Amino acid sequence: MSLTNKKSRIVIIGAGAVGSTTAYTLLLRERMDELVLIDANQEKAIGDALDMSHGLPFLGQSKVWAGTYEDCKGADIIIITAGAAQRDGESRIDLLKRNVAIFESITTEVLKYNTDGILLIASNPVDVMSYFTWKKSGWPTNRIIGSGTLLDSARFRYLIGEKLNIDSRSVHAHIIGEHGDSELPIWSLANVAGSGLSLSDEDKEEIFSNTKNAAYQIIKAKGATFYAIALALDRICTAILHNEASVLNVSTLLQDYHGVSDVFLGVPCIVDRDGIREVLTLEINDEEKGLLEQSAAKLKDIIGTVSM
Ligand code: 2OP
Repeated sequence: MSLTNKKSRIVIIGAGAVGSTTAYTLLLRERMDELVLIDANQEKAIGDALDMSHGLPFLGQSKVWAGTYEDCKGADIIIITAGAAQRDGESRIDLLKRNVAIFESITTEVLKYNTDGILLIASNPVDVMSYFTWKKSGWPTNRIIGSGTLLDSARFRYLIGEKLNIDSRSVHAHIIGEHGDSELPIWSLANVAGSGLSLSDEDKEEIFSNTKNAAYQIIKAKGATFYAIALALDRICTAILHNEASVLNVSTLLQDYHGVSDVFLGVPCIVDRDGIREVLTLEINDEEKGLLEQSAAKLKDIIGTVSM
């Protein structure tokens, strides 16, 4: 809830598995006063909003409704989860063409009604969709945030924690780069209480492979991923609404980040009420720099194939 009299509002565009799970997560944690669901399938948004509203007597004072783009007016955060989702065997990049077309119409509508909120992008391929949204909006980069490698870093920390039998919240480790197949683990800086991790090369390989391929594994098993990404989006919204200045690995425009520029990628950023306050440069080693360059080159090639 906001500390001022102004009601805090989050709009979620796309009431598919990710959008509706994110809405439910935000409601359970009572993150905002008003939550609006928008979907091309209005019936689905209406159904979700009713279903969640009926739980409000067990929760707090939030309101949730199925709205229209006009409800983006005055919204603090607009989360975009809409678009085609990965099917079994597809990579995130395979979604590009379909989702660029969908984003074109969504961003046009949003920008009619909101000029000073924060756009939080979750649709895949998230780094490209964030770049596209930034270009199209003309907004300053601090107000365009991609969910980036926040989820991948959480998967990485969870798997390291499991292997070492240590609470994953006490594991400090980063995945940076593309939210996708070219992402990279920053083993050189991974630590627990400042101490390096006692993991063999085989352990590291297994942990990173399971991190990178987690979404494929889950999609094969149940068709989609949504619980953990919903919690990651909730984490970003909280850092914004509570002005936390938390360090989160989100997707942002890189400018001379170890020589990488003009591409959105996941790196640690300080996130507060204004969105991305600062991009933090990790002191990575030469091998990691090389992998980051490769990830950036891949994304730039892909961006070049889309007419924006
Ligand atoms: C995930 O990593 C599919 O991008 C989604 O869970």
